[in-house]
Amino acid sequence: MRKIVIAGNWKMHKTLDEVTDFLHKISEWEDAFQHKCKIGIFPPSIYITIALQQLQNNNIFVGAQNVHDEDFGAFTGEISPQMLSSVNCKYSIVGHSERRHIFGEKDDFLNKKVRSLLANDQKVVLCIGEKEEQREEGKTEEVLENQLSQDLKKIKDQHMKDVMLAYEPVWAIGTGKTATPNTAQAAHKFVRDWLTDNFTEEIARDTTIMYGGSVKPKNIESLIVEEDIDGALIGGASLNIESFTKVIELAEKKSFK
Ligand code: 13P
Repeated sequence: MRKIVIAGNWKMHKTLDEVTDFLHKISEWEDAFQHKCKIGIFPPSIYITIALQQLQNNNIFVGAQNVHDEDFGAFTGEISPQMLSSVNCKYSIVGHSERRHIFGEKDDFLNKKVRSLLANDQKVVLCIGEKEEQREEGKTEEVLENQLSQDLKKIKDQHMKDVMLAYEPVWAIGTGKTATPNTAQAAHKFVRDWLTDNFTEEIARDTTIMYGGSVKPKNIESLIVEEDIDGALIGGASLNIESFTKVIELAEKKSFK
């Protein structure tokens, strides 16, 4: 059975006081709410250790939004998989569309990151997704296939248990334009079929594929009921404790009937 995962990607948001306040509130909420899904947050890297400490008695994972592929070296401004391991941070996002399109990260670099994270016993959330013009040109599947085959190149079957995917259509990120449940489901199904063809049926069945792109309390229920949507990676709505916990509560009601 695949795990439902609801995670917040805070991007470059929040001061220390705001982080502390959010962590305190979510920790209290989590103590009271008997959840079955996996919950996580991806704060800016400066707050990772604080979040890990504040949530040490909670069942909420903390991950990095980005990571380099090398363990150490002259890479000003970067953090490495080994550094994440050393502070007991076990998750990292790779290939978020903002890394791809604002910072120009290419698929071969993303593949190196995935491989390096897995070699360091880290878990990966690999983001994939097409731009608006690519969708309009009917190239969505081609783009997803290219990203998957390059980013997961040379990944061995036994490592796929540490890989989660997030389908995040670029045109739906931060725009308020969510993919319709049908559109998102079709893309998720395509990704799952790709996993069957390129790994195994078992891997395809067990890999969590989250949806990301303007997920809010008002649309989570219609998305999560789709067969191949196994959770959500949430930007804007994860910054606010009320909307983040509301999304989790609504997703739970629908997905564990
Ligand atoms: P929004 O939920 O703000 O659209 O962001 C989605 C996202 O990029 C999550 O990684």
